Amino acid sequence: MRIGILNSGGDCPGLNAVIHGVVGAAHKLGWEVIGFKDGFEGLLPPGDYRILTPRDTIGILKLGGTILGSTNKGHFAAKIGTGKVAEVPKDIIDSARQTIDQLNIEALIIVGGDGSLTTGLQLYHLGWPIIGVPKTIDNDLSATAMTFGFDSAVTTVVDALDRLNTTAESHKRIMVLEVMGRHAGWIALWGGIAGGANVILLPEIAFSLEKIADFIKKRTAQGQHSTLVVVAEGAKMPDGDLVTLDNNCSGEVRLGGIGEQVAKRLQDLTNKETRATTLGHLQRGGAPTALDRILGMRFGVMAVNLAKQKAFGRMVSYQAYHVDSVTIEEAVNKLRLVDPEGEVVQAARAIGICMGDS
Ligand code: F6P
Repeated sequence: MRIGILNSGGDCPGLNAVIHGVVGAAHKLGWEVIGFKDGFEGLLPPGDYRILTPRDTIGILKLGGTILGSTNKGHFAAKIGTGKVAEVPKDIIDSARQTIDQLNIEALIIVGGDGSLTTGLQLYHLGWPIIGVPKTIDNDLSATAMTFGFDSAVTTVVDALDRLNTTAESHKRIMVLEVMGRHAGWIALWGGIAGGANVILLPEIAFSLEKIADFIKKRTAQGQHSTLVVVAEGAKMPDGDLVTLDNNCSGEVRLGGIGEQVAKRLQDLTNKETRATTLGHLQRGGAPTALDRILGMRFGVMAVNLAKQKAFGRMVSYQAYHVDSVTIEEAVNKLRLVDPEGEVVQAARAIGICMGDS
């Protein structure tokens, strides 16, 4: 038996752990693993791939990025912006199929987010032996309680807040930290709570700058002269607008800049010196945490189990501390957003964190 694996979309700490799990489990079954390079692009004739043996995976568990490369644009992009699904053209699929047939690939493991899994679903509907593995630091896929990469991103946010806190205290400043989170505020919420933020702003909760300024003024009156604010890149300014940079080639709007805007407004409203930091891709790079290494490895092993059962069209999923699977159909197009009334937000409010709305 010969199986293929590819990583598609933005990278994420823990991708190499998945490869480690897939190659290890497949080798145990006597199977050969072909790793396609740069996402689906590696499928295009003549094919860009390498055979992966356990020897090739020595030491990769702890590495960030992916040894296979990835792309979030190119010929197979199925999603351009929220909710818009574009079919991959038939001629592209037909030529990629030649590579799969020539190499006798009997299962193709796609490690990707919402967009890449949407492409995977289209291929599955055309009879391809697809197995999905969910991947996103944003942790916003509804069919899995957690994705690898999220914990690593949160850990980076916490480290940044710890550092910002000391300088904020020295200078009695407001520090605004902009973090990733395109549609969902999980990174901001978890990172903010764990890093001791005083204000957390999410895409899911509309905020008022005046209310945040009042909160900060009260803190100052109580002798707390520094304030840490975390804002998700996908949060909307009170006028309802996303703050964007420019479009990248795939048409997906690049978010960024809300931290600077919030900082400027808070400085004006509070008369306190305010600085903004954008954490950006530091959250995506670097070594995965222990949790992400283990989760990624387990996802990879489950993907091989699904291949063994010929359970095509399914995606690995993590539910209640258990790695299982769901149909890819169930998994795509449904984002798992932060519930503004949910327990984690309530816990944050209970300990006095301002969510920007009261
Ligand atoms: O979807 C994951 C994510 O990290 C988003 O939070 C962010 O908006 C986006 O990727 C950045 O993508 P790129 O690396 O293409 O700029």
